[in-house]
Amino acid sequence: MTEIPRQMQAIDPEAPGGAEVLRVVDRPVPEPGPGEVLIRVAAAGINRPDILQRRGLYPPPPGAPSIPGLEVAGRIVSLGGGVDRFRQGQTVCALIAGGGYAEYALAPAAQCLPVPEALTPVEGAAMPETLFTVWSNLFQRGYARDGETVLVHGGTSGIGTMAIALCREFGIRILVTCGSEAKCERARALGADAAINYRDGDFVEAVAALTDGRGVDIVLDMVGGDYLPRNLRCLAEEGRHVSIAVQRGATAELELGRVMAKRLVLTGSLLRPRSAEFKSLLADEIAREVWPLVAEGRVKPVIHATFPLAEAAQAHRLMESGDHVGKIVLTIGDLDRMI
Ligand SMILES: NC(=O)c1ccc[n+]([C@@H]2O[C@H](COP(=O)([O-])OP(=O)(O)OC[C@H]3O[C@@H](n4cnc5c(N)ncnc54)[C@H](OP(=O)(O)O)[C@@H]3O)[C@@H](O)[C@H]2O)c1
Repeated sequence: MTEIPRQMQAIDPEAPGGAEVLRVVDRPVPEPGPGEVLIRVAAAGINRPDILQRRGLYPPPPGAPSIPGLEVAGRIVSLGGGVDRFRQGQTVCALIAGGGYAEYALAPAAQCLPVPEALTPVEGAAMPETLFTVWSNLFQRGYARDGETVLVHGGTSGIGTMAIALCREFGIRILVTCGSEAKCERARALGADAAINYRDGDFVEAVAALTDGRGVDIVLDMVGGDYLPRNLRCLAEEGRHVSIAVQRGATAELELGRVMAKRLVLTGSLLRPRSAEFKSLLADEIAREVWPLVAEGRVKPVIHATFPLAEAAQAHRLMESGDHVGKIVLTIGDLDRMI
């Protein structure tokens, strides 16, 4: 095993700003504390929250590194005290609260999952943030179960493509919205039961037509604002509305009569600030319920593009353009040599 250097390359902007602040700098290699592992990062997934963080709108929670990056895959190179579920040299992917855009990253061992043969390191790095978010919101908070119908906005987003993959496996009918016909086609090809172009008509009417007027059991919403009253009109009786982002506004008008008449439940969550205990329990549930499907190659992320660490700015610009389908991933170092 190669020696761990003291310094590493990382992206660690000193001030918020545009994509140009994402420059490679030297930073000390972190040391694993109790319960943590140090990962030689092979690849790091990019998520929309990284863009908000870069703009200064989503600061890291207390104790998290200022280096962006919420998910990585790579080889474990050292173990902190008390870690017995993994060994040095194992390839894992991990959900982290920051620090992914770097050659080395710390992860709580309880938030790591082994990368199976069925996944490349790039695919491994593209899984944790969307998988943990969709599982905890659609399945845990939204109680999605087989035979139900869900509506997911942003059908070709990292989150949306993961929701399609999971719904396909768990017998849930999934309707999605997308901003173009080309994206709708991709969503259908990935397994969405229906895709609605929200620029080409009212999605509320489309959902009513697709469900014979009954409505959907759950809306997984990343849009917020004026979508809330429209989403509630899409819900069936006992429907659940789960908010995970507010791209069109953090406040909304709520028609309480509709909530009472249909006995709706409104909930939502943010993954990053949740406690290590919560994330560890979530990882255990995902290891039991989803990881066997990942190991069989049945659940995989959709990779749109990869960029080397030094081109993180281009990667962010691509995500901000909205032209991607699925995930954008940074590759860090020589994948073949490391894995
Ligand atoms: N709560 C949490 O814990 C959590 C965790 C991770 C991510 N998120 C949130 O989930 C969202 C998706 O994240 P991601 O990493 O998958 O991002 P992404 O791939 O960049 O996707 C963003 C999506 O938002 C859709 N969108 C943007 N404006 C829209 C609008 N006005 N109406 C309908 N759709 C709109 C886009 O769809 P079109 O191009 O088709 O318009 C696009 O598919 C982000 O908002 C992110 O902040 C939340």
